[in-house]
Amino acid sequence: MTRNEIIERIQELRKKRRAVILAHNYQIGEVQDIADFTGDSLGLSQEAARCDAEVIVFCGVHFMAETAAILSPRKTVLLPDPRAGCPMADMITAPELRDWKARYPGRPVVCYVNTTADVKAESDICCTSSNAVRVVLSLPDEEVLFVPDKNLAAFVARETRKKIIAWDGYCYVHNRILARDVLAAKNAHPAAEVWVHPECRPEVIDLADRVISTGFMVKAARETAAREVLVGTEVGILHRLRKESPRTAFYPVKERALCSNMKKITLIKVLRTLEEMKDRVEVPSAVSRRARGAIKKMVSI
Ligand code: 13P
Ligand code: SF4
Repeated sequence: MTRNEIIERIQELRKKRRAVILAHNYQIGEVQDIADFTGDSLGLSQEAARCDAEVIVFCGVHFMAETAAILSPRKTVLLPDPRAGCPMADMITAPELRDWKARYPGRPVVCYVNTTADVKAESDICCTSSNAVRVVLSLPDEEVLFVPDKNLAAFVARETRKKIIAWDGYCYVHNRILARDVLAAKNAHPAAEVWVHPECRPEVIDLADRVISTGFMVKAARETAAREVLVGTEVGILHRLRKESPRTAFYPVKERALCSNMKKITLIKVLRTLEEMKDRVEVPSAVSRRARGAIKKMVSI
């Protein structure tokens, strides 16, 4: 089958199944291009809750499809490759979180959306990289438990001046972007602005002009007057940034900042999922109810 034939067949099936295709900003370009909506973790969960499709084909990783299933329990959520997980989300389990919470009684648990439904169900409120600071500021507490990303936690601590007790997790893609990568990129493009994701290490954040989620990078691309921008996050975002702002030259801080899980989704897998309606992501109702509470609290602020 040629690429065009695959795309045509996806379009036919999308109508027949009353399906919507959602894609994260880190997906490969051709998957982003066939999606009904491309965005960051927050935008995708809002879109999943809002859309009136019967089927959601989620081009992202497992926790994102799970979040869509939690927010839209009556919709069928399909993940085109069930092996597309997030190593950071797997760095904490619900029993581990329960034990950890017991050591810090009275502190609320803020969980990054990059967690399993079981972990969300054990948390007080959820956050994404675009609203983590706002979520923590909305809490009356001066001490907060934060899972699983220690780098995002350090960024939130810096911005809120609250005491953030962090789980020792991280995103391997962002954690591998080093200060010396930023310095080398700045050396090659001295006039460029530097935008990095808050999952990056604190010493990388120190070198950045802007520390923003992928969703805010897209917005910033539309508005920027910068001629050159160095981007410190997963390189899939470059496809979207270049589309949004052809006048600006976007360069990766690190060419090899690649999330292999995000890249597991391909056009042919999207087609297969729609044909066979398989690889459904479901969350048991008791877990879903508790996890939804943490997500809804985030959305309400
Ligand atoms: P955002 O899209 O929320 O910026 O998250 C980045 C990420 O690492 C998702 O896995
Ligand atoms: Fe997980 Fe990092 Fe990949 Fe996002 S980029 S899915 S946080 S491993």
